[in-house]
Amino acid sequence: MGECSMSTFHIIGSQPTEGRIPVHGAKNAVLPIMAATLLVSEPCILHSVPYELEDVRLMIRILESLGVKIERQGDDLYIDASTINTLEAPYDLVSGMRASFVILGPLIARMREAKVAMPGGCAIGIRPVDLHLKGLQALGAELKLEHGYVYAQASKLQGKRIYLDFPSVGATQNIMMAATLAEGTTVIENAAAEPEISDLATFLNSCGAKVHGAGTNVIRVEGVVALTGCQHEIIPDRIEAGTFLVAAAVTRGDVLVENAVSNHLKPVIAKLRESGHKVTEYAEGIHIVGGHSILPTHITTSPHPGFPTDMQAQFMALLTLSLGNSTITETVFENRFMHVNEFIRMGANIRIDGRIAYIQGVKRLTGAPVRATDLRAGSALVLAGMAAEGETIVHDTFHIDRGYMQLEQKLKGIGVQITRYD
Ligand code: EPZ
Repeated sequence: MGECSMSTFHIIGSQPTEGRIPVHGAKNAVLPIMAATLLVSEPCILHSVPYELEDVRLMIRILESLGVKIERQGDDLYIDASTINTLEAPYDLVSGMRASFVILGPLIARMREAKVAMPGGCAIGIRPVDLHLKGLQALGAELKLEHGYVYAQASKLQGKRIYLDFPSVGATQNIMMAATLAEGTTVIENAAAEPEISDLATFLNSCGAKVHGAGTNVIRVEGVVALTGCQHEIIPDRIEAGTFLVAAAVTRGDVLVENAVSNHLKPVIAKLRESGHKVTEYAEGIHIVGGHSILPTHITTSPHPGFPTDMQAQFMALLTLSLGNSTITETVFENRFMHVNEFIRMGANIRIDGRIAYIQGVKRLTGAPVRATDLRAGSALVLAGMAAEGETIVHDTFHIDRGYMQLEQKLKGIGVQITRYD
């Protein structure tokens, strides 16, 4: 996944943090919305795009490979999908990022035909796409899986009632997008309710779609004949914001995370408070003052509005230094504890039994060379490095660059001693 590089982060730990740190537009909102522009035969403009993220660059390449015209000006992306000239998304691009699979629904809906490579494996779990495929089939798409590709055809799409076995974010997005141009009404039950789903619905509705109920577990989409171009502002990245809140907590800092939306971060804020930190919610962002001690707590990840799996590794970094015993139960992905061994190299006391990590707090972590195994595991190692004594060297930073834009500049701004070496 992503492109390999030899780049590393060197972090000198145990430095106090203070100040303001900004949050960019959300990676997991912008990727499906970029895919959604395929539904629209007029130009769209997206504002607050985190354009330096490797995942965004890859989505740009995927759309361009289909013939879409894209221009960037500052944080804005101009996307014109009127010029699509091929319906095939090749393996070498799609395998680099699972999120790219959400181009399938829009392509089927607007072009009635698509050939999209099946996404590859992934460090955090098996991550099948069966729910995406079942949903699109229910709407009338004929799908054939051959030679590693999904071949899709649909003479017409017809609205249906679709129940998802699990509230998958990507499946909800793929089905919701396809349904905007289907005949009649689609109802998605047990739909994902993440803020990024609501942002996608806001974009689609600005383009003339009729999506209701996004942000709840029942989404109703009334099909329309065509979508028109629109402008849309991407929501702030709640996981980037949450990562910065933990950065302040783990260094006992005093930090304002600018643009963070507290409504999107309720479980994260609740757990930070439980673990002894003072969190104040403002319209302009979230202010945190790290507690003198880190109190132990118990966390179970689950779909929104539960505790986000994308914040699990960062909280584990924090709880390694707590005053007692904590547990983290991961229910969303079956293999998302790859960071544990790296934390142990830094002196943490963690034991894994199936989906539960038992964390016994230690007095100190010591800096060590460690390796990022995926995006959030990587950011969690940076956090652990900020708390540790001495120097931590995080290898394989390309994972981190997929989802954090200008991370070292931002962290330096609140006092972190972090340097990138290429
Ligand atoms: C999205 O992935 C996010 N990615 C992930 O963020 C996030 O961890 C995840 O949602 C859960 O919140 C983007 O939005 C681009 P899912 P997605 O479909 O859509 C199983 C990050 O760090 N499943 O909700 O792929 C699946 O295996 C990333 O930014 C099926 O069984 O997540 C997993 O166990 C990583 N069949 C669970 O559901 C399916 O057809 C959740 O997956 C689809 C999913």
